[in-house]
Amino acid sequence: MNTQPIGIFDSGIGGTSIFKEIHALLPNENSIYLADSKHAPYGNKSKQDIIELSAKNTEYLLSKNCKLIVVACNTATTNAVSHLRSKYNVPFIGIEPAIKPAALNTETKAVGILATKGTLSSELFHKTTDLYSNDINVIEQIGEGIVPLVEEGKATSNEMKALLTDYLKPMIDANIDYLVLGCTHYPYVMPLLLELLPKHVKIIDSGLAVAKQTKAVLEQNQLLNKTAKTPENAFYINTNITVLKDIVGANFKVEYLDF
Ligand code: DGL
Repeated sequence: MNTQPIGIFDSGIGGTSIFKEIHALLPNENSIYLADSKHAPYGNKSKQDIIELSAKNTEYLLSKNCKLIVVACNTATTNAVSHLRSKYNVPFIGIEPAIKPAALNTETKAVGILATKGTLSSELFHKTTDLYSNDINVIEQIGEGIVPLVEEGKATSNEMKALLTDYLKPMIDANIDYLVLGCTHYPYVMPLLLELLPKHVKIIDSGLAVAKQTKAVLEQNQLLNKTAKTPENAFYINTNITVLKDIVGANFKVEYLDF
């Protein structure tokens, strides 16, 4: 049982930022990563479409005997994780924008949040934001166009720089001291964010928290892999494999899969 893989899925290659955190914390674990790049971006799709795609990804991973599923996508989590939890009998770990630590620590009382339309319009996101942002100016920005550029391997391109310059301006004008990254593709634009934001702005994402939660849930369910065998971490994508291969490096198996 414990050697069964962890299943991880995203609308594309962004969730590899979560895989990297999980692999660093749980190096013994086998895993299967599913990049549904053919249907990216999820962020502009209806809630029903996001639920259907998330269920399809989950079913594939369960058919591969996964013991736990990490929904490495804010958009899929905020729109579909309650559906997945009620339908499938395995633990699910989701990812949501880390609004709480930003709201609790901001000194300027202004916090920026960059996420997809699907995440920012979801009920779950609003619930969390309302809970923590009473006296705080939360500047929400849809990151339209960022996911497709990351998927094309253009995370540090001039096109990306132009988009981010536009998106960050209202936040900089409002004197934010925290920027919350609400999409797992966005850690890949970190070099540009660091270049464009004033030095005092702290950037937070939920990657490490997701890895810690994954470990805790595996422990609670006695599902940790305690064997010392070299783990297998496989990656599947339903479009061109090149960008995913570049992002995960030569140590991992990346294959095309028609799904
Ligand atoms: N990585 C996904 C997320 O965290 C991207 C969503 C999309 O495909 O629009 O929301």
